Amino acid sequence: MNRRLGVLISGRGSNLQALIDAIQGGRLTATIGVVISNRADAAGLQRAGQAGIETLCIDHRDYSSRFDHDAAVAREMQSRDVGLVCLAGYMRLVAAPLLDAFPNAILNIHPSLLPAFPGVDAQRQAIEHGTKVSGVTVHLVTAELDNGPIIIQRTVPVHDDDTVETLSARILAEEHRAYPDAVQTVLDGGWRVIGRRFLRSASAASG
Ligand code: GRF
Repeated sequence: MNRRLGVLISGRGSNLQALIDAIQGGRLTATIGVVISNRADAAGLQRAGQAGIETLCIDHRDYSSRFDHDAAVAREMQSRDVGLVCLAGYMRLVAAPLLDAFPNAILNIHPSLLPAFPGVDAQRQAIEHGTKVSGVTVHLVTAELDNGPIIIQRTVPVHDDDTVETLSARILAEEHRAYPDAVQTVLDGGWRVIGRRFLRSASAASG
């Protein structure tokens, strides 16, 4: 698989940083071809700049539809020969032009054990529901929010005295390990999607 990543962000960019660090540390065999934000003030743009990665802001408010915005994003990704798109705190649904340009090649990370607690405030949802474990999901992106085939999940305990902040911090630390691992898994190949299931062949799973 083409190991050049395109990363989409909207904000802080700590998961982007985890990918950059994993590449620099030799734990992820990939390069980042471009980081695109839909917000000019996303702190992650600075992180990418510091790592010498090309950045673009494609502001969704400059487009009359989600379709047109995502077509522009897809064009920029394709013109840089991106093979895999990673959403990293990208606060938008992905539309047909991007999904069609990257079939089964867009990943997202979400701070809960999906299908529990999709959408915003997943950590708060877990605390308010009273679950004893929560965690991280990395999944393939489909048109439905937080609903694609699951690549990996990692669990994190929920403590009785957790606040949204303490649980979020515990989950985020796990996110930063899980995302590079999931990207490496996808890039290494030897998997297929059957129905909703992301399945690795025996040789890929043991590697
Ligand atoms: C993370 O919790 C991620 O799981 C969710 O949005 C947050 C982004 O954080 N999708 P960051 O921008 O990567 O720091």
